[in-house]
Amino acid sequence: MSIEFFTRLPLHGETQYLPGDPRNRGDWNRGEHSTGAVSNFRVGDHFTYIDYLGQIARAAEINGFGGALMVNAPSGEEPWTVCSLLARETRTLKFVTAFQPYHYTPWVAVQQAATYQRASGNRLVWNIINGGSDAIQRQVGDFSGHDERYERAIEFLDVVKGYWHNENFHYEGKYYRAEGGGLRGPLKKAELPLICTAGSSIPAREFAAKHADYYLMRAEHPDEVRALISDVRERALKYGRTDIRFGMSIDVITRETEEAARAEAKRFFDEGIAKGAVKAVAAHAGLRTARKLSYEQGYAQKNETQGFEEFFIYPNVWAGFGYIGIPPGCALVGSYENVVARIREYNAAGIDLFFLAGYPHLEEAYRLGEHILPHFRSERAELARSQDSLPELRAVNGPAGA
Ligand SMILES: Cc1cc2nc3c(=O)[nH]c(=O)nc-3n(C[C@H](O)[C@H](O)[C@H](O)COP(=O)(O)O)c2cc1C
Repeated sequence: MSIEFFTRLPLHGETQYLPGDPRNRGDWNRGEHSTGAVSNFRVGDHFTYIDYLGQIARAAEINGFGGALMVNAPSGEEPWTVCSLLARETRTLKFVTAFQPYHYTPWVAVQQAATYQRASGNRLVWNIINGGSDAIQRQVGDFSGHDERYERAIEFLDVVKGYWHNENFHYEGKYYRAEGGGLRGPLKKAELPLICTAGSSIPAREFAAKHADYYLMRAEHPDEVRALISDVRERALKYGRTDIRFGMSIDVITRETEEAARAEAKRFFDEGIAKGAVKAVAAHAGLRTARKLSYEQGYAQKNETQGFEEFFIYPNVWAGFGYIGIPPGCALVGSYENVVARIREYNAAGIDLFFLAGYPHLEEAYRLGEHILPHFRSERAELARSQDSLPELRAVNGPAGA
């Protein structure tokens, strides 16, 4: 089985969710002093937070990461804009931008993506986000219900793929219509962005089953990862699809020895606890999923004074980050050797694409590049487009095959 490594960029601050850690970069902090930066971080300064993100992106590229995930939160930097700004500062790094269809029309998305692809050498990947929480959706102006958002997104991608692959595309759906239109001229040379998506609700899985090249998940116990993979694979089969692939986002705290790695994780944990960043934060932080993962359900019973060790849900898989409110929630904690072994285990469970990151992202990109990624050199493979998720001709006439 092939394997590929991407990282994740901190679009809402280096240690924004890590109270007590002084290593902030830029102006994303809670009023404490930033360390190491020369700027006042005012609009118009010569050095901005985006410059720091640029440093991480370049470090990731230099250290052999294939791409970077840009997560969207209403309070964070806007991911597709960051991708655009960083594309020209990098050469090969792919950018997986959170992409929320409800903020766009299919045509605007197609035109923007085609231009981006031409400028960047086809390095854009869309992570289609449909939003787990109705409350957060309403804050940003989307008043449709959870399941309806997925129904609409299925049509959205039907239309996007239709426009992309036809010069004269017609569509009559519940949410979208098109009468002619489609990529023409030089824009036609661009490749459709690869499609990732996440979400563990049934509509999210169905959406992935139909449209995604990669279904992304947060780390859980390997048994739960296997179960989710097998469910989504089965759903994809209904659409005649056999080649959907899987990705996982997980933080990494790794050192030469098991003890050193645990000491670093414990430092984060203790600082988080000391600052009171528990439970309430954990319940609301992160990726706003409708489904609580099983380790999150156990948080209510946990007593932080007992501690750190209880949060290992599997050897080297530590859910303490989620407890103190640091997304995505789980981290691989251990020696270089053991972290490599766990990655291999998740790979054997069906994960092709890993999003690995640590704190601070810049230094840890080097550590991962020097101590973890080289073990996988001969198995690395670029992201693959699913051959059976391309539009069928019936999409030209509408969703029902009218
Ligand atoms: C790797 C990964 C990245 C994600 N990125 C985002 C993001 O950028 N913005 C967001 O609102 N949700 C993000 N999510 C959350 C999911 O897209 C999804 O909205 C959430 O899990 C709720 O979906 P559900 O209610 O259908 O299960 C991400 C999830 C994963 C696993």
